[in-house]
Amino acid sequence: MTEKKDPVLERAYAVGGPDAVRDLYRDWAADYDHDTVGRLGYVAPRIAVDVFADHLAGREAPIIDVGCGTGLAGVALRTRGFRHVDGLDLSPDMLAEARTKTHAEGPVYDALIEGDLTARLPVDDDAYAGAVSVGTFTHGHVGPAGLGEVLRIVRPGGLVTVTVNDGVYDAEGYDAALAALAAAGRATVVDTRRADYLVKEGIGARVVTLAVAA
Ligand SMILES: C[S@@+](CC[C@H](N)C(=O)[O-])C[C@H]1O[C@@H](n2cnc3c(N)ncnc32)[C@H](O)[C@@H]1O
Repeated sequence: MTEKKDPVLERAYAVGGPDAVRDLYRDWAADYDHDTVGRLGYVAPRIAVDVFADHLAGREAPIIDVGCGTGLAGVALRTRGFRHVDGLDLSPDMLAEARTKTHAEGPVYDALIEGDLTARLPVDDDAYAGAVSVGTFTHGHVGPAGLGEVLRIVRPGGLVTVTVNDGVYDAEGYDAALAALAAAGRATVVDTRRADYLVKEGIGARVVTLAVAA
């Protein structure tokens, strides 16, 4: 396993439970973009959104960015032409940062929703045509059980792309979780690939794309 060196990352990977996550991101929200994109070489949002955009035809249907944080994936979705993007996150401080993000046509996100992916989200079944989740299936944040809740809010035939930090993919049993979702008739993996994630830390991720069962 890659040794973690950056103290901010050490703290981020050591959290556990919603209260610790909220505390972490309350303290980190203002510096998050600078620390991740600048210092740690965080490239996952653009990579994951490119995979998602290459698989999903059409740009008008509603998309949700789950664990949106400050909005890096939302910006990437808008750049790829998606016109209706909502964001959801556990941290009100990260949502406040996301609210400030804009693109050529206005705010990046149509709606920003506070919710906990380890519980039931305040979102209707089948509400979205697609979902992306970047950087949230990782150490101390959300485990494979959270995949089911993302699938619940995406309509049949829709698409879900998630990143899973390499450090938890095998340790937390993602292959088994994905196989169980397929066996239950909920979704099938249509693309899985290794990708750069935090390049200056030498940390990679799996980018997994699922088609929601029709
Ligand atoms: C590493 S950040 C990634 C943010 C953004 N997607 C990005 O790529 O920059 C992880 C995000 O997941 C959110 N998060 C952690 N646990 C969560 C949960 N149980 N439900 C919803 N969001 C959660 C955090 O608040 C944080 O904004």
